[in-house]
Amino acid sequence: MLFWRVKPLDDILATAERKALTRTLGAFQLTMLGIGAIIGTGIFVLTAEAATKAGPAMMISFVIAATVCALAALCYAEMASMIPVSGSAYTYSYGTMGELVAWIVGWALVLEYAIAASAVSVGWSGYMVRLVEEILNISIPTTFTNGPFDKTPGLINLPAMCIGLVCMLLLIVGTKESARFNTVLVCVKVAALALFIALAIPAMDSANFQPFAPNGFFAKNVVDPISGKMVTVGVAAAAASIFFAYVGFDAVSTAAEETINPQRNIPIGLIGSLAVCTIIYLLVAAGAIGAVGASPTGELASSKEALAYVLRAIGHGWAGDLVAIAAGIALPSVILMMMFGQTRIFFTMSRDGLLPSIFSKLHPRYGTPHVVTICTGLFVAVFAALFPVGALADISNSGTLFAFALVAIGVMILRRTQPGRTRHFRTPLVWVVAPLATVGCVFLFTQLSGYTELMFFGWAAIGLVVYWAYGYRKSHVAHPHLAPAE
Ligand code: ALA
Repeated sequence: MLFWRVKPLDDILATAERKALTRTLGAFQLTMLGIGAIIGTGIFVLTAEAATKAGPAMMISFVIAATVCALAALCYAEMASMIPVSGSAYTYSYGTMGELVAWIVGWALVLEYAIAASAVSVGWSGYMVRLVEEILNISIPTTFTNGPFDKTPGLINLPAMCIGLVCMLLLIVGTKESARFNTVLVCVKVAALALFIALAIPAMDSANFQPFAPNGFFAKNVVDPISGKMVTVGVAAAAASIFFAYVGFDAVSTAAEETINPQRNIPIGLIGSLAVCTIIYLLVAAGAIGAVGASPTGELASSKEALAYVLRAIGHGWAGDLVAIAAGIALPSVILMMMFGQTRIFFTMSRDGLLPSIFSKLHPRYGTPHVVTICTGLFVAVFAALFPVGALADISNSGTLFAFALVAIGVMILRRTQPGRTRHFRTPLVWVVAPLATVGCVFLFTQLSGYTELMFFGWAAIGLVVYWAYGYRKSHVAHPHLAPAE
C-alpha cells in the first residue's frame, strides 16, 4: 500500500521538462533569499501570541522551533538537490511514498502556503489599521478590522482581505521579485528589527522576566483571562505556534538547481538564514519582554502590532510608526511568496492529473496559471477576512509540520531504495538528523491546540474524499492514456 503508485524519479524529472538553469547563486544570496522568506508576521505579530502562551520563557520556545526547523531544513536540502523541480514536499512524496501520501501532503501544503498567506495578510492588517489610526488620530470600528472569531469579534477583516486580493492580481500579471528587490526588502525588515532592538534592550527591566515560565513546559488547556475561552498554553505550545516565524526557509532548498557548489552553499544558506533569524528573534523577544513584560493578561498579549506597541509603550511613538511602515512595505512580499508557492503546488498536482487540467492552464497574455491563482487568492482572502492571525498561523503550522516530517521520512527511504542516485547535497549524519527531524515535527504537532489538530484532520478527511472522487480515477501515473500528449 505504501509503495502503491510511486512516480519514478526519472519520470518526475522528465515531466517537469527540466531546463538547465544557470548556476548563479552563492552562499550570500541564498542566505538573503532565506531571510527574505522567513521574516514576516511571525516575529512582527506572533511575538504577542508566544508571550501569552509561554511568558518570558518564550525565548526557549524560539530556540526549540529553530532547532526543529534546522533539522528539517537539512533533510529538505537533500531532497531538493535530488529532485530540483516544483512541487516541493508533494513531489518528493510522490517519488518515495506513492500517490496517496503525495496527495495528502499536497493537500496539507494548502494549509502551509495558502493559510500562511492569510495569516500574514491579517498580520499586515493589524499594523496598517493601527498606523492609520495613529497618523489620522481616528478610531476605525472593529466591525471592519476584525473577523467574527477574533478576541474582540467584528464582522470582517477588510484590509486583510484586500491585501490578499491585491497580491492575487499581482501574481496573475506575473510579478516576480528580483534578487535585488528581495535584498532591499530584507534590509527594510532587518533595519526595522534592529531599530526595535536598539530601543527596547536599553529599556529592559530584569523584573519583567519573573515569573519565567508561568504556564509550565508542555501544552495544557486553560481559560484565557481576556476572552474567557479555552486556550492552549506552555513553552512547547508557544514553540509550536512561533514555528510559523521560521517557515519559508524551504525557498533556499528549492533553489538547489541554481546554486554554485550546492553541497557547500545550500547548507550555509539554510542554516545561515535560520541562525541569523534566530539571533534576531531572540534579541527582539528579550527586548519585548524586558521592556513591557510578557504577562498573559498584559497589553502586549492583546496587541495586534506587537513590536510597534512595545515601542509606543516605552515612549518611542515615532519608532513604532517606522516599524509599522516597514511591516506595511515588507509583509506583502511574504504573502506573494506564499501564494506563489501554493499556485505552483496546485499547478504540479494538476499536471499529474490529480486536479482538473484547468488548474494548469496558462493565461494567454501573461503566461501565468491564472485559474489556480484566482482560486488560491479567493481562498486566502476568505480566511484572512474571517479568522484571527494566531489561529491561522497554528493551522498553517499543522500542515507544515506534517509535510516536513514526511520529507524527513522520504530522505531515509531514498537512502535505502536509491543509494546510488546523485545527491548534490547529502544530509549530514542522516540517520540521526532525519529521525530527530521527524520526532521534532511530531512533537510540535502534538503541542498545537486540540482545535487546530481537529481542523487538520478534518481537512485531511475532505482531501481523501476529493482524492477518491477525482485524483484516484484521473491520475496520470495510474492512467497514462489520460495524460496530454507531450
Ligand atoms: N515566516 C513567515 C512569517 O513569519 C511565514 O511571516
